[in-house]
Amino acid sequence: MATIIDGRAISAKVRAEVAKGVAELREASGVTPGLTVVRVGDDPASRTYVRSKQKGALETGMEGREIELPATTSQRELLEVIAQLNADRAVHGILVQLPLPKALDPDAVISAIDPRKDVDGFHPVNVGNLMLNRPGPRPCTPFGVMRMLAEIGFDPRGKRAVVLGRSNIVGKPMAALLTQADATVTLCHSRTPDLAAEVARAELVVAAIGKAGFVRGEWIKEGAVVIDVGMNTNEQGKLCGDVEFEAAARRASAITPVPGGVGLMTVAMLLSNTLEAARRLA
Ligand code: GUN
Repeated sequence: MATIIDGRAISAKVRAEVAKGVAELREASGVTPGLTVVRVGDDPASRTYVRSKQKGALETGMEGREIELPATTSQRELLEVIAQLNADRAVHGILVQLPLPKALDPDAVISAIDPRKDVDGFHPVNVGNLMLNRPGPRPCTPFGVMRMLAEIGFDPRGKRAVVLGRSNIVGKPMAALLTQADATVTLCHSRTPDLAAEVARAELVVAAIGKAGFVRGEWIKEGAVVIDVGMNTNEQGKLCGDVEFEAAARRASAITPVPGGVGLMTVAMLLSNTLEAARRLA
């Protein structure tokens, strides 16, 4: 039976480190890190995520602000808000919650954020820095997964890792970070033939597909580490991951639950990136 990886405990540890860093920065330079989260429209899931990001900022001693814009906001209006935040010296981290309403172009919006304030690590400059293994903010969810692996003592070096899902937010940066950590990475997606066989070879599985229970427990290699990035709602309206948890836990050596796993790490690493941005800008 697998060890259940405690995202609550690990994220609390990261938050405590961030809170300490925030206090030290304020002491040394008088600067309080400021995070502004921009949310456009009224997607209920986005509303929940944004609240937890803002709450996390306040709890670690930062300035946490949310800007709520109506779904009818134009591209020009949103770019104007971002320009103001770029120029605001009290703002060190800017995050525009995705997905955006269809009329808005997420690429143009992300590119408009000052890369030094891009605490998501989504700006093309920061994506480039990630690929080149240069310093810079790393996308929060995969960065949080790496921290979780370190905390449980799993070293990716020389391991076979399978990442399921090739999104810009999770799958692609996850594959890059694991490659830098010396894993042999296979990035799988909806057109990959025989996913079951790919997963069955993996000593590490990171599932980020967005389909409840898609990864079958019987696919998992005996003793593998399973990280479930899925945030789905099942027929009963309950939050659940991409992995068949009970069945996978019988084969894995360690597995993340949903809720209580990776989701909490995303917020913690966002706070860490905001502190880092404030240190660099201060
Ligand atoms: N939507 C889902 N995950 C994320 C994230 O990490 N950052 C932003 N900005 N939007 C998201």
